[in-house]
Order: sequence, then structure tokens, then C-alpha cells
Amino acid sequence: MIALVRATGRAAMTMLFAVGLLLPVQGVTAAQHVALAAPSAVSLPPMGWNDWNHFHCNINEQVVQQTANAFVSSGMLAAGYQYVNIDDCWLSHSRDASGQLQADPAKFPHGIKGVADFVHGLGLKLGIYEDAGTMTCAKFPGSLGHEATDAATFASWGVDYLKYDNCNNTGIAARTRYQTMANALKNVSRPIVYAICNWGQETPWIFGPQVGGNLWRTTGDISDNWARMLKILHAQVPLATFSHPGAWNDPDMLEVGNGKMSTTEYRAHFSMWALLNAPLLVGSDVRSMSATTSSILLNRDVIAVDQDWGGEQGHRISAKGALEVWAKRMSDGSVAVALLNTGGGTATVHTTAHAVGLPAKTSYSATDLWSKATHTTGATISARVPSHGVVLLRVS
Ligand code: GLA
Repeated sequence: MIALVRATGRAAMTMLFAVGLLLPVQGVTAAQHVALAAPSAVSLPPMGWNDWNHFHCNINEQVVQQTANAFVSSGMLAAGYQYVNIDDCWLSHSRDASGQLQADPAKFPHGIKGVADFVHGLGLKLGIYEDAGTMTCAKFPGSLGHEATDAATFASWGVDYLKYDNCNNTGIAARTRYQTMANALKNVSRPIVYAICNWGQETPWIFGPQVGGNLWRTTGDISDNWARMLKILHAQVPLATFSHPGAWNDPDMLEVGNGKMSTTEYRAHFSMWALLNAPLLVGSDVRSMSATTSSILLNRDVIAVDQDWGGEQGHRISAKGALEVWAKRMSDGSVAVALLNTGGGTATVHTTAHAVGLPAKTSYSATDLWSKATHTTGATISARVPSHGVVLLRVS
């Protein structure tokens, strides 16, 4: 099985997960443990950073390198954040004489290879952005019609992750455009995580895993406000069954730390993304992360919810007006329960052990993953939840 995984990489992992041979759960068989000894780079939701939400087009080599250093010094790397991802605007406005993409020499004097080498030297991975159209969204050269060349270029630079956007797509079907790049990526020697970014258009949750996408954006862009974050969260409700290890719904990058939401709201945002098994791509400036932001992004108990596969991503159990209950089965049999209050005042949110899928027992242990307090509860699970807040419990 190991040989098979090594030989065919992502496709084999996806297939093995699909037929239930590889389960990243406690209690796996000895044979499965052997297979898990060399897990795919993308069997869990990718964790890292992307510059777009904070820097937009103001990206350069220095920011990327300083960010990579901050991954190490802030404890992000130790907490599991791995990918340092460059978004749009890294490019020169034209290809070179041989038709290859080239980085803007003013922004990236050492090229993308130089940055990749730096990032790899710290034990991190490098992501890049391109577009399945004639131009990127910021009007730099796109990869449509150049897929094989560009995939080979990325591999030669040491790129580990490709975010592939959807602007200026000339109306060609998404499945066709994303399949072409998937084929190109399969033909290069380097494993490159494939992040489909077509904003939820043309059902990427169906064609994405079929073409070999490791994640696919389910909506248009997030912005740093509660209403937009909540709208994106609610758009995930019908999509829970489409994700699985190696192939994830992507509700877009995190806004935690960008300053326009309250700490309570950012905790809710991070909790809900973890419950969804979403990619955790930090979108703020981690070089100057506040203690509050750090306490959110580095909450290992919440990260553990994101990085665990109990058979299905978290999903909504109930919604009564502004009060919602979401739950995610964990691989150890416990259940992560998010009691979410989207309303304007503090309220009691409640559910039952039965409703969230716990076995019948006389009492349960519930740990609050933010306060760390543990209490014993009966069949009713409830908490007082502040406006725009969440109480995230792990119940067993
Ligand atoms: C699109 C994507 C964003 C970002 C920008 C860059 O809007 O959805 O995440 O990559 O393009 O131009």
C-alpha cells in the first residue's frame, strides 16, 4: 500500500480514503497504521497563511520572508501552520522570451525560487497564485493555454501549493479549465497542492474532487466583517457531504487579526472554520500579531477540531432564529459542538447529546475549548452565548 501511495500520490490517497482503507482515526488496524506512517501532504486541511486579505497587491519578498520567520518565532509552525502562500500581483506584466512566467523583479529580486528556498530552509512550504484565464484578477498574465509550461515552472521553482483563480476565463467551462491544470500538475515531478478558486461557481464541490483538486472555494471572497463571514458560513450548510480527506470545501481565508471584527466575532469565525474542516489560511499580518490574535490562531484545541477527521465535516444540526447548533464527530468518538449566537444579545443556546450524535449515557463531560473549563452535563447541552459569539465544546 505504501508503494502505491508513493507511486501515485494524491490520486491514490483520495481513492484509498474513498474506499475506506485509510482512516486518520485512532483505533486503526496495524496495516492502516503502516499506511499512515507517510501521510499525504494534503490528507488534512492545509494550514498556513496567504497575503491577500491583508496586503492585497502590496506583496514582496521581504514580507514573505519576514512572515516565514514569524511562523517560527510566533509558534505558528509548531502549531501546524505550514504553507506561506503568495497571492496575486507577484508577476511581471509579461512572460519572458521563452514564454515562462517571471516574478516582478522589483518585488521579488531573488525570484520565486529564492523565496521558496528561504521558506523551505525554515521547514515551511511555499504557495503561489495563478489564474485559469487569460489574466489574473489583477490583470497579470494568466495560465489559460500555458498550463503545462506554468506547472513545470512552478515545480522548478520549488512551489508546493497552487491557488488557481477564475478571472478572465473567456467563458470556457470551469471543469475543462481546472482539469487542464490538474493534468499539468500531475505531470510534474513535485507534489503540488491544488487549490481551486472559482468562487463556488459551476459546483466545484462536484468537479473539484473529480479533477484532483485538494480544496475548492465554495463562495466569493470573504471580507473582514461579521455579516460577510456569516453569509459564507451559511453557504456551507448544504455542502458538508462533499468534503473528505485530501479534498476540502474552502470557505475562504481567515480574517482573524485584520481588525474589523471583535475578539468575540473572530473567535466565532475561527471556531466555525475549524468545525467545517476548512483550510486554516491566516489572512492577517503575522509579523505583528497581537497577543489576542495569537491566542485565537494558536488555540491548539480548536486547531485539533479542524485537523481531525471523524467521517464527515462539521455541519449544522439546528437553527432557531439567531441561535444555531453545529456539530462535528471526532475520530475518538467525542463530538465538537458549536453553540452559535448570531443575534444582538446574550442568549442561551441548547441542544441534546442525542441531536449531536452522542451515544445515550447518563452524563457527559464537556470541555469549553476557549475557557478550557470542563463540566459534567446530562442529556441537554447548553450555554449562555454572547452576541456574535460561539461556545465551542468537546463533549464525550
Ligand atoms: C480573487 C480571489 C481572491 C484573491 C484575488 C486576487 O478575488 O477570490 O481570493 O486571490 O482574486 O486578485
